[in-house]
Formats: sequence, C-alpha cells, structure tokens
Amino acid sequence: MHIRSQKLSDFFNIGRDLGWDVEQQKWTVNQLIGPEGLSYTVGDIIPGGIPEDLPIIKSGNRYGYPPLRERIVETMEYDVDADHMLLTLGTQMSNFLAFATLLEPGDEAIVETPSWEQPRVLCEAFRADCKLIRREEELDWKFDLEKLESLMGPKVKLIYICHPNNPTGACLDEAELRAVCDIAAKHGAYVVSDEIYRGMEWSGDPSPSVANTYERGVSTSSISKILGMSGTRLGWLATPDRDFMERCMELKYYITLHQLSRLDETVAMAAMERQKFWAMARNSMRVAKANYDLVTKWMENSDVFRWVPPKGGFLSFPHYDLDIPSWDLCIALIKEPYRTYLIPGSCYGYENYVRLGFGPSTPTEDVRNGLEQLSAFIDDYRDGKIALSA
Ligand SMILES: Cc1ncc(COP(=O)(O)O)c(C=O)c1O
Repeated sequence: MHIRSQKLSDFFNIGRDLGWDVEQQKWTVNQLIGPEGLSYTVGDIIPGGIPEDLPIIKSGNRYGYPPLRERIVETMEYDVDADHMLLTLGTQMSNFLAFATLLEPGDEAIVETPSWEQPRVLCEAFRADCKLIRREEELDWKFDLEKLESLMGPKVKLIYICHPNNPTGACLDEAELRAVCDIAAKHGAYVVSDEIYRGMEWSGDPSPSVANTYERGVSTSSISKILGMSGTRLGWLATPDRDFMERCMELKYYITLHQLSRLDETVAMAAMERQKFWAMARNSMRVAKANYDLVTKWMENSDVFRWVPPKGGFLSFPHYDLDIPSWDLCIALIKEPYRTYLIPGSCYGYENYVRLGFGPSTPTEDVRNGLEQLSAFIDDYRDGKIALSA
C-alpha cells in the first residue's frame, strides 16, 4: 500500500521547517493555527501526580477499562450504555477501525470537504471510492442535503462528517443531523461522525451526537482537543450498533492487542470525571474567548477578509479577496518579515480561503501580532511590495 502525501501534511511540514526552532524547541512564528484546548499537566488532573503504586498491567477488558467507559458515557452524555463504547488509541484509530470495518474494495464512502485528510486517506488505503460532499460558505459552511442525497447509491457504505467541523467550525443541529442520518438510512449506510470538537461550542448545549441519533451512527472522539491532551493516546468509539462495535473490537486486537496504555487510562479516568471535565473545558473556552474576540473584531474591520464565525472549536475558514493563491500567501506570510503561520485553503480544495485558528494555547499577544502582520502583508501586497517565491 502506498499512501501519497497530502497537501495539508505537506504544508504542516513546511510550517515546521520554517517556524520551529529545533535548538530551543519552540515556535518562532505567530501561530494562527491552534485547534486545541488548554493543555493541562498531570498535576492539574491528578493532584500529586500518577500514584506510585499504580501497577502497569493491562486493563483486562477487550473493550477498554470498564469504569472509564462508564465515565465517558456519563460525561459525554451518550444515550448508549458502556457496552456500546470501545476505547481506542485516539480518534484517528476510532476512524480507522470504523472505515476498515465498513469498507471493501470497490465500495463508496461519502466524505465531507473541507475536512481533515484522514477519511480520504483511509478510502484510498481500503480501495474505496471517495465521493466528496462540499460544505459551502453561503450555507454557513453546511452542505446541501439534496446534493448529499444525489451522491447516495447501493455502493455507499458510510458517510463521514466532522462536527463541529475542522476547519470551518460549523455545527449541525439536531434536525440537520437527523436529516443526514435519514439519507444514510435509506441506503443502509453508516454515519461516522468525528466529534472530537464536541463540547467546544460557543453557545448553547454540546452539538448532537450521532450515537444518540441513529442506529448506524458511530461517534468517534478523544480528549486530544477539548482538554488539549493529544499527548495521551486515548479515544473512543460509541455506537448503538453492538455487532459493528464487536467487529471493530476484533480488528483492534491485531493492532494493539486489547490493551491501551495504563498511564493514559489513569490520566483519562481522572480527567473524564464529569464536573472536572466540564470545568476544564469551560476554562479553555473562557481563555480562548479573548482570542476569538480579537479575530472577530479584525474580521469586522477588514475589507479583504470575511468569515463565517465558527459555532464550535477554535478553527475558522475565512475567505480573502486578493489575487494571490492561498499557498503562495501562506508561504510569504510565514517568512520574514511577517512570520505568521496560517494554512492555505487549497490544502482543503478551496482557493482564496485560509485556515485560521485561535486556540487558547496561543497567547493572545501572538494572535494580536499575527493579525497585525496579516494587515501589514495586505498593505504591502496592494503596494506591490511582495515578491512571491516558493
Ligand atoms: C477532525 C480530527 N479528528 C481527529 C484528530 C486526531 O485525533 P486524536 O488525537 O484523538 O487521534 C484530529 C487532529 O487534528 C482532527 O482534527
């Protein structure tokens, strides 16, 4: 199997080469890309740290440590019980298991765009035909349900969505999610919903979960984003379809045996305690609000950029009105004198857009500097002072 490198990962590599100081192990650019919540230390999560007498043994359950599964069900408010919850090495692995279980060569999967790369790569890996459904800015970054319906057919085994969406921050409401599920149901297809940003909505309740909506709904998630704990590898898959979950569990055995890291489970067990979890999540949103407000104000005042304010998460996908490809714009921006890191919309198949993130781990000062540099770049470009180079 040969997986071609994708433009988004290519740009992340360029960003790292140009922006990361290897000697000092720190970023040297204004990072307007941050998608993650505040990161907490082990001491924040477990006062006193990991217990010294913690035995590093396996959890002894094929589906994952039972009390942790129960805790996740309660904290994330899944209507399914812990028997419908499989612990994994992160959302990536949950998505992998779902796609691997559902797709045979020649099958079709419908994958939303813009989105992150993994679902497309998985289709390629499993030799399935990936049909893209485009989110549209005019629809507040939702997709047209009639278009979705027109892509369906007997070979479609799954629809993949990510909501709140990376990179637009769009959320589906109950009725919209239900409509997607109804379309899938007519063809017996599954809906795999990457809900890693669920709980990071800017107002109202957490967006609806597909595991609570559809009998063939598969919710995948982890603590990587909402608690900024991507240094753990602890995720899950929740679904009302017990047989499907069983098949995912069987496959998981050949990747990790049945074990996860006892250390990760211990940290997650403490972090997922309902009150603590939501207190940390809310704190993250509170800290990020200052960044969000700065970007909002900047967008309101810009005659070049416009955005649909994200409904959830710390990512957005603004449009710009300059005659310059997004790849060139982002390359010029990350270099001297601007030193500001944005992701080109073309990596997502959308030209004249950029991905702009404002997560709470990025100091507000850096967001302010980054926006100032973006304004300076726009002025210089209009004055003909920018020489584009690869
Ligand atoms: C939409 C989405 N899903 C999943 C992941 C990876 O999640 P995890 O760290 O839980 O494997 C990311 C990481 O950027 C993401 O953006």
